[in-house]
This record gives sequence, C-alpha cells and structure tokens, in this order.
Amino acid sequence: MRWSDLEPAELELLRAARDVRRHAHAPYSGFKVGAALRTRDGRVFAGCNVENASLGAGICAERSAVLQAVAQGMRRRGLDAVAVYARDTHPTPPCGMCLQVLSEFGTDPAVYLANARTVERMTLRELLTRPFTHFPRRPR
Ligand code: THU
Repeated sequence: MRWSDLEPAELELLRAARDVRRHAHAPYSGFKVGAALRTRDGRVFAGCNVENASLGAGICAERSAVLQAVAQGMRRRGLDAVAVYARDTHPTPPCGMCLQVLSEFGTDPAVYLANARTVERMTLRELLTRPFTHFPRRPR
C-alpha cells in the first residue's frame, strides 16, 4: 500500500520509524534503519540500528526499539505492532534474530515494512512461522 492509504494510528507508527532512522549509527554498512513499535496499552517506542567497530556488537533497529519498550515497562504479550523503515528498493523485513526477539512479546503482532514509497503490512507469524519457544522451565 501507499503511505496515503494508512490509518492515522498506522501513520503515527510509520512516521516514528522513519524519523528515528535519522539517529541510526551505521558507519560500517551505511544502511540506516528505523523501527517503531506500539504496545497494547497504546504507547509508541522507537529505535535505530547502532553499529560498532567490533561488528558483532551492533544491534538492529527492531531490537533497539524492543529494549526501549521493555525498559519502560512493556511486558510479555505487550506488543501490538511494529514498523521498520529503511531506504532500500524493497521494504526490509526484520532479520531472523529480531523476529525471534519480537515473538517473545506478542502472539501475532502486525509488522509493517516500509520505504519512502510503499508500505507492506504483514504479521509476525507470516515472517516467522515457528518461533523457538522451548525452554526447560516454564517462563514466568
Ligand atoms: N538492520 C536493521 O537494523 N534492521 C533490519 O531489519 C535489517 C538490518 C541493520 C543491521 C546493520 O546495522 C545494518 O542494518 C546492515 O545489516
């Protein structure tokens, strides 16, 4: 869909993802990404990718947004929707590690993939059909 097709709440989320991308620290890849998520209690949190000279120490925009939200009280199943914004020819999906982290906080949140021209609306389940959930002890 086009940006002009978005509902006001969706537009707010997508704009937050687009705006936070300005703060991305991506001197190694040159690929700046912004992400924003909405919690089920209606709050919006944004995050950008933060790379490091020790390349494996970098973090993606999506997990950066999750950290912001958890630090402000988002709980398990508290995630309603997440938007990812990058300037690529095709909208960028979250990487596998981010999909797994997102799956910890929502049963099936909406995932918006956007670039300057288009927005794709998907669900987390479409992108990650079988998240890893096995853990010897039941999580509390
Ligand atoms: N990246 C994200 O932040 N989110 C994505 O969905 C894909 C990849 C970042 C990680 C790294 O900083 C850069 O993009 C290149 O992989």
